[in-house]
Amino acid sequence: MRINKYLAECGIASRRACDKLIGEGRVKVNGRAASLGEDVSERDVVTVDGAQVERKPVHRYFLMNKPKGYVCTVKDDKDRKTVMQLLPEGAGRVFPVGRLDFDTEGMLIFTDDGDLAFRLTHPKNEISKTYLVKIEGSIGDAELNRLRAGVELDGKLTNKSRIKVVATDKKFTKLHITVTEGRNRQVRRMFEAVGKHIVFLKRIKIGEMPLGSLERGKVRKLTQEEIFYLTNL
Ligand code: URA
Repeated sequence: MRINKYLAECGIASRRACDKLIGEGRVKVNGRAASLGEDVSERDVVTVDGAQVERKPVHRYFLMNKPKGYVCTVKDDKDRKTVMQLLPEGAGRVFPVGRLDFDTEGMLIFTDDGDLAFRLTHPKNEISKTYLVKIEGSIGDAELNRLRAGVELDGKLTNKSRIKVVATDKKFTKLHITVTEGRNRQVRRMFEAVGKHIVFLKRIKIGEMPLGSLERGKVRKLTQEEIFYLTNL
């Protein structure tokens, strides 16, 4: 395997950043300075700044653009369609990281890496998630500011959120909202709290990582850069 890919898979840095480390002479293979583009195998001893690089267990990571009409569980007791049915054959024992409602679309990560799943979903880490929201009618500054400041759900204020209106027409308003919690039906309930009904909801970003152009219902593997980004969020 190419040395930069190997280092990235061991969690050292992104491939490009690993090339830089190699260029700076900080990477050694069996005691001699590594060169860009060389191949290494399991038998080689690779060090960065003198510390031996350890191969982590290989995990799997996928990104799905979830369509509405699917539940985010491994098995549904009401026999509805589950997101697991959209995974490619041979995806392995991966599970969805966090949840999207039955009616919500968009970015959903699957992995068998329990550490990453825990980090991305633990409330104390306040990982931001951005949603495209479509509501009926318009929304005023007073409501927007209430949503930004935090609204009360289940007796507790939501964290501050970032919101911007991205499009309006006679019937609908589209907005982007970024929240840092994952409470049950949080975005829908936040808008209900200011008297607005969501007719379309799609997660479009986790941290700064966008869903991009993945088609609705499709799944792809995460790139090394994306895995590195998420594991270091
Ligand atoms: N907020 C919601 O209301 N629903 C989701 O699926 C995700 C965030």
